Amino acid sequence: MKRILITGAAGQIGTELTRELRRKYGVDNVIASSRHRPEDDAKHSWTPFEVLDVTDRDAIRAAIEDYNIDTVFHLAAMLSAVGEQDPQAAWDVNINGLHHVLEASRRGGVEKVFWPSSIAAFGPTTPRNNTPQDTITQPTTMYGVTKVTGELLCDYYVHRYGLDVRGVRYPGVISSDTLPGGGTTDYAVEIFYEAIRQGHYTCFVREDTVLPMIYMPDCILAATRLMEADLSRLQHHNGFNVSAMSFSAGELAAEIRKYIPEFACRFEPDQRQAIADSWPRSLDDSAARAEWDWQPAFGLAGMTVDMLEKLRTREQLGTL
Ligand code: SER
Repeated sequence: MKRILITGAAGQIGTELTRELRRKYGVDNVIASSRHRPEDDAKHSWTPFEVLDVTDRDAIRAAIEDYNIDTVFHLAAMLSAVGEQDPQAAWDVNINGLHHVLEASRRGGVEKVFWPSSIAAFGPTTPRNNTPQDTITQPTTMYGVTKVTGELLCDYYVHRYGLDVRGVRYPGVISSDTLPGGGTTDYAVEIFYEAIRQGHYTCFVREDTVLPMIYMPDCILAATRLMEADLSRLQHHNGFNVSAMSFSAGELAAEIRKYIPEFACRFEPDQRQAIADSWPRSLDDSAARAEWDWQPAFGLAGMTVDMLEKLRTREQLGTL
């Protein structure tokens, strides 16, 4: 990993992954890219940066060749809820985009690719508790369909072309820097912002909805540790379950109330409830633990304290 390209760098995961990879591998060796150039701010200079649309095959190929890229973190994607509003666009971005990246990587001499799958690869026929690594994947959302297809496509490039493609199935990602855009697990981030800003929140899933979640430092750790792992230890390559915590929306509200006692949360499920109900409640991540020493640091209590502290700091700085 000497010359790295990140797609979707301005997104929820990309923002913080870009910062961490630049810290580790040098600013000039990590090329951030996104469909639009984000504004620089006090804590984030985006340079080196390329405007890159992953549905543009030639542009992907040019970026990989021009920058002499050897590693790609391909994060650009449409999430589950927005994917249901425009399933054709979700397929185009998530699958054609991935195919362009894999093809350009294999032709352009890239050594390693990271591509995140999701708990959305599972569906209502999957065992929902302690969901196994290798199990039924029959999702009911277009986002999930693209995740299952993507896992298969990535594995195909591993076996057919020897391209070293690796990835995890992320649970809902909770973070304090950049908001997620259009996912089903967004409530677990929004609730913190609204608790601090307004003191109340209307949650779009039922109080008893349990989903697996991960805090951003562990999300970044999963990507970097898997990519740095010894290839000879990997039995799987893509779609590793990674577990960190599972809680209900009601438990999350109660945890926040320990620090903001007046916080009020109402539950008004919308169409995203059906998506949440089709996903696992908890994950068996023993393959990730055995094959590349996956070990998360944050659970519900530690994550809540850290989130509230980080968002309060942003509030004081006027950046919330
Ligand atoms: N967090 C994503 C979503 O809700 C799942 O990968 O769409």
